[in-house]
Amino acid sequence: MPLNIIIGAQWGDEGKGRFTDLLAADTDAVGRFSGGDNAGHTVTVGEDVFKLHLIPSGIIHEKAICIIGNGVVMNPAVFIREMDGLIERGIDVGPERLKISRACHIITPAHIALDKAKEMALGTGKIGTTLRGIGPAYMDKIGRSGLRAGLFAHPEALTAAIHAHIEAHNNTLTKIYGAAPLDATAVAAEYAVYAQHLAPHLADASVLLDDYLKAGRAVLAEGAQGTFLDIDHGTYPFVTSSSPTAGGALTGLGIGPKMVGRVIGVCKAFTSRVGSGPFPCEAEGETAVRLRGTGANPWDEYGTTTGRARRVGWLDLVMLRHAGRINSFTDIAITKLDILSGLAEIPVCVAYTLDGERINHFPHSLEELGRCEPVFELLPGWQEDVTGARTWDDLPKAAQNYIEYIAKDTQTPISYVSVGPGRAQVVDSSAIDLLS
Ligand code: IMP
Repeated sequence: MPLNIIIGAQWGDEGKGRFTDLLAADTDAVGRFSGGDNAGHTVTVGEDVFKLHLIPSGIIHEKAICIIGNGVVMNPAVFIREMDGLIERGIDVGPERLKISRACHIITPAHIALDKAKEMALGTGKIGTTLRGIGPAYMDKIGRSGLRAGLFAHPEALTAAIHAHIEAHNNTLTKIYGAAPLDATAVAAEYAVYAQHLAPHLADASVLLDDYLKAGRAVLAEGAQGTFLDIDHGTYPFVTSSSPTAGGALTGLGIGPKMVGRVIGVCKAFTSRVGSGPFPCEAEGETAVRLRGTGANPWDEYGTTTGRARRVGWLDLVMLRHAGRINSFTDIAITKLDILSGLAEIPVCVAYTLDGERINHFPHSLEELGRCEPVFELLPGWQEDVTGARTWDDLPKAAQNYIEYIAKDTQTPISYVSVGPGRAQVVDSSAIDLLS
């Protein structure tokens, strides 16, 4: 059985959690490979809404084991809180089921304090991070001074490492940012307790997953964030500090490319982003409220992690083609089609104009991107409520056209269309030939 990978095709919040949940039903192992608790994945099962930040959404199924891969930066306090929440709801999060790579890096209060101090110092030029310490934790990792989860099995070494880590960062916090220093002894004591909890969960994730794949068992890599938040391929510097793209799935779990089966790009029927940075198709005023919702429903466009109102706009096919190239999508899942019901016409961005010239690609330079104007094609809308659609034929013709237009433009099959937040509110369109 191959490794299937779920990737966000936009700026995150595409609804990846629900597809992890859908595919996890037939999966033996689900692994997170990048990011940390900056992610927020919502899965709705009947009346139950699960909001997860670190633990893979696959945990909600009984069968799959779940793995935090080496590419993740994990905050042990958040992880344990999430475990406790799942235990309360009767979900097994024991060490046989929930594994942490020894090579994944640990987030500490120093990383969080640095994230806050840096953002504050940037003022209006801030990235708009989730303030979860993600960037500073990856800086330590790349700077070869990070703390890895393997330390949880070695209490004395962990205590010494925490002391050295906090003392080093206190220097930066106090001397560069004028912030308060942290108490190394208190942090070491706190982390000693986390280590006791988490040491039994440690594993060599790469070996474990390789055994699974060789035994013909299905493995799913659960993406966090999205292609345009990728440190290399996103809207740098308004990005996260990891590789949420398909390449990152391989390095972040320790699996080679021969194992890859599907790479499923998850894309909202429109676009959203949180944080700062350019957004060529951004909508404002009534249109933005129409796409975002008012916040009254859990699926409205307000951050799962931060509660911030998301910026929203029309679907941008220039971005989706860019994401398709970076990730080699084998197929695409479209989410939140139901939100577009009731519009007379739906604008879809098919290209940009830059200094009067039409361009079909996503520019690397932020300065150029900031000058791009979207070229919209107007597609016919539909008035019907599509939340009850369960088959392709249940969708109104104009909604089918909208999906087909995306498939043809990106030259990629569209396997699923979600029409509401519920687990069952998905149309499986994989048997429909949308490309010819
Ligand atoms: P960081 O990952 O907290 O460093 O934040 C960097 C940028 O990525 C900010 O614009 C965040 O809003 C954005 N970001 C991080 N995680 C997510 C996510 O899960 N969904 C959407 N945006 C995210």
